[in-house]
Amino acid sequence: MVKLSDRIAYVGVNDTDKVLFEGLWPLPVGVSYNSYVVADEKTALIDTVESGFEEDFLENIHDAIGDRPLDYLVVNHMEPDHSSLISYMLQEYPGLQIVANAKTVPMLKGYHNVPDDRIMVVAEGDRVSLGNCSLRFYMTPMVHWPETMVTWLEEENTLFSGDAFGTFGTIDEDVADSEGTFEQYRDEMMRYYACIVGKYGVPVQTALKKLGGLEIKRICSTHGPVWEKGIASVIALYDKMSRYEVERGVCIVYASMYGNTAAAADALAMELEEQGVPYAIHDLAGNNAGELGISGALRDVFKYDTIVVGAPTYNNGIFPPAETFMKALQARLIKGRRFYAFGSYTWAGASVRLLNEMAASLNFELLGNGLSFPQAYTREKVDMKAVAELLK
Ligand SMILES: Cc1cc2nc3c(=O)[nH]c(=O)nc-3n(C[C@H](O)[C@H](O)[C@H](O)COP(=O)(O)O)c2cc1C
Ligand SMILES: [Fe+2]
Ligand SMILES: [Fe+2]
Repeated sequence: MVKLSDRIAYVGVNDTDKVLFEGLWPLPVGVSYNSYVVADEKTALIDTVESGFEEDFLENIHDAIGDRPLDYLVVNHMEPDHSSLISYMLQEYPGLQIVANAKTVPMLKGYHNVPDDRIMVVAEGDRVSLGNCSLRFYMTPMVHWPETMVTWLEEENTLFSGDAFGTFGTIDEDVADSEGTFEQYRDEMMRYYACIVGKYGVPVQTALKKLGGLEIKRICSTHGPVWEKGIASVIALYDKMSRYEVERGVCIVYASMYGNTAAAADALAMELEEQGVPYAIHDLAGNNAGELGISGALRDVFKYDTIVVGAPTYNNGIFPPAETFMKALQARLIKGRRFYAFGSYTWAGASVRLLNEMAASLNFELLGNGLSFPQAYTREKVDMKAVAELLK
């Protein structure tokens, strides 16, 4: 438990055991599930945490409010990383009333069989008084699910923002950020955004506009540090990413079975290095432990304006990890990128043509026809220097 102010306490937990978030996204530096208690004449818990942390969670709440009962549990978001312990909390606190919006109600029933008389339904702009302060609710659909809302505590200028402004990475015992915290988390925040929220650029923009009038002095999101010093940077990053704004640079993404496409990818990286072009390189087949795979690739798609995909031909198609990546771009409605494809084949190349077709369907600008080469990669056969020139 960490006190953030007289009224607000952090009661969340760090998870250093989970390997893949949502069963997909590697967590090299863990993740936190944040939950908060607001204690006034009445007490409110904002969201819960993932299952498996029941004891720590309850102990944190006890540290914050002792034997006082919890009056309200505000459910901003129903994804199980935050809602898993709802049933448990209803049992532990028999007087606890859930505060949720209409879209949340069927989810509360479907996941936790919550009876109607334990749910208080709130709508846009509604207030719930805790005595000397009150909680106010703003709907932010699709940031990250349709039922998502945020909770505003005006008396503390504090926004309980749900997944918005969240990041991967566990947090230290201070919980609140200090100078430099934002820079420390920037990459993981971008990876979190790209993987989890990336599809919802338009809803994020809508939410930012809606919340623009609030004088926010503290952002309490559901993952990562509490933002007090870094608020402007965090909001600016979310704003930039949800507008799909990028810098000049190349994101090389490849997958390879026998190393030929990989060798071409490495050669391209070397050429870009020599020519001083900013770039990142990601191996989707994950041949090296610790690599971020598709999650790192998606992060850098939100960073650079040029996407280069390498994939061998596989059963007359695209080697599947690269095809999955292209579908992930489609799912995230990525737009305004330049594109180039390359890859090895043995008897009839198809991957480069098909990658180009997928890129064209996303309205990417194709920087040439791509480079489909037979069998082994050699410097003589495969001119990556010329490709690097194209990408400048
Ligand atoms: C399961 C499988 C399916 C393949 N299908 C094709 C194909 O349809 N057309 C083709 O030209 N090569 C095909 N190949 C050959 C690969 O494209 C070739 O081995 C290529 O050099 C592999 O590139 P890599 O070293 O980057 O993995 C296939 C290989 C495998 C293992
Ligand atoms: Fe979520
Ligand atoms: Fe979450």
